[in-house]
Amino acid sequence: MKILTVVGARPQFIKCAPVSRALRKQHEEVLVHTGQHYDREMSDLFFEELGIPHPDYNLGIGSGTHGHQTGAMLAGIEDLITHEHPDCVLVYGDTNSTLAGALAAAKLHVPVAHVEAGLRSFDRRMPEEINRVLTDHVSDLLLCPTETAVENLRSEGITGGVHLTGDVMVDALLEHTRVAQASSVLADLGLSAGTYRLATVHRAENTDDPKKLAAIMRALGDLGDVVLPCHPRTEKMLKKFGLYEEADRRIRLIKPVGYLEMLALEASAQTILTDSGGVQKEAYVLGVPCITMRETTEWIETVQDSWNILVGSDHDAIVRAAREFVPEKERSDVFGKGDAAVKIARVLGEMGK
Ligand code: UD1
Ligand code: UDP
Repeated sequence: MKILTVVGARPQFIKCAPVSRALRKQHEEVLVHTGQHYDREMSDLFFEELGIPHPDYNLGIGSGTHGHQTGAMLAGIEDLITHEHPDCVLVYGDTNSTLAGALAAAKLHVPVAHVEAGLRSFDRRMPEEINRVLTDHVSDLLLCPTETAVENLRSEGITGGVHLTGDVMVDALLEHTRVAQASSVLADLGLSAGTYRLATVHRAENTDDPKKLAAIMRALGDLGDVVLPCHPRTEKMLKKFGLYEEADRRIRLIKPVGYLEMLALEASAQTILTDSGGVQKEAYVLGVPCITMRETTEWIETVQDSWNILVGSDHDAIVRAAREFVPEKERSDVFGKGDAAVKIARVLGEMGK
C-alpha cells in the first residue's frame, strides 16, 4: 500500500516515529510535514533524535488563526493527495494538522486512518476536542489507544473500522528510556534526581487567559523547585501579558528540550505538573505523580488509577496538590505493552487486501 502520512506538531513526530518504522517494512510511506511546528527544538530535533525519515514534503504553513492555518493545510494536502494517489491517509492525534489531513482525504474519497482515535475530554471549548470528533467521524480506520476510546466511539455510533491497538507513545517511550537515562541533561542543569518538579504549560485555555496564566506561574514560582521547558506559545503569551520576567526569576524556564532529555527529566522528577496530553501518559508509565492543570482529561485512566489529579488553573489547588498528592493504586498496562505500531501496520495491511 501507499500510505500518505500527515504530521505537523511536536507530539505527532514522536507518535509517527515507531509507526513509520513498522509501516515501511511492508508499505510505501509518503511523509508530509505541514510545517505547523517549525522551530528547530519543536521539529527538526525530533526527526534527528528519533531517526524519523526526512519528510517527502514540507508545506511550510507555519502559525496562524485556526481557520487560516487549517485552511492552508487543507489546500496543500489536497494537492499532494491528488498528485500522489495514496491508498490511505494516516493522521495522528488532535491538532489542526490532523483535521486538515483527514478532511482533505475524506473529500477525495481516500480512506483515512486515525491513530489515537476515540479520545474525548467532553469539553468542546478545546480546539483539540473539535479536531478529534471531526477526524473520527470521517475516518475509516479508528486506531484506539485504550478501551475507553473504543467505548467513546461506540457511544457516538462508530463501530466499523475500530481497532484497539494500544498507545504508540508507549512504544516510543519504552524504546528510548534506556538511551534517555544516559542523557546529561540533569547534570547540565545542575539537578539531582527526586529534588525538582518538572512542569509544562501550553494549552490555549491556560496560556491565552492572563488570569489563568498568572495564577499558574505564581503557583509554580511558590513551589520553588520547578523546571519548565517553555513552549513557544507560552513564552509569547508570558511576554505579551508582562509576566515573563517574574516567571523567569521564580521558575527555571528553559527552552523546549528534545525527547530524550524530556524523558530523562520526567523519569527523575519528584512530581510532574502539566497541561499536556502526552506528558500525563508518560508520567503514568514512568510512575511519577502527575498534577494536571486542566479541568478535564481525555486520559482518564491516569486519574482513575490515582496517579494523576486534575486541579485546573487555581493557584491554591496547584500548590496543595504538588505538596500533598500521593498515588494510592498500582499502575497497569492500560496504555498497551509497546506493540501498538506493529498492530497498526498489520491493521493497515489488512485494509489493503
Ligand atoms: C498545537 C496543537 C495542540 C498540541 C500542541 C503540541 C492545535 C490546535 N493545537 O498547539 O493540540 O498539544 O501543538 O505542542 O493544533 N510557535 C512558535 N514556533 C513553533 C510553533 C509554534 O513560535 O515552532 C508559536 C507561534 O507563536 C504560534 C503558537 O506557538 O502562534 C501556537 O502554535 P500552534 O501550532 O498554533 O499551536 P500549539 O499551541 O503549538
Ligand atoms: N516534549 C518534549 N520536549 C519538551 C516538552 C515535551 O520532547 O520540551 C514531549 C513530551 O515528552 C511528549 C510530547 O512532547 O512526548 C508531548 O507534546 P506536547 O506536550 O507538546 O503536546 P500534547 O501531548 O499536549 O498534544
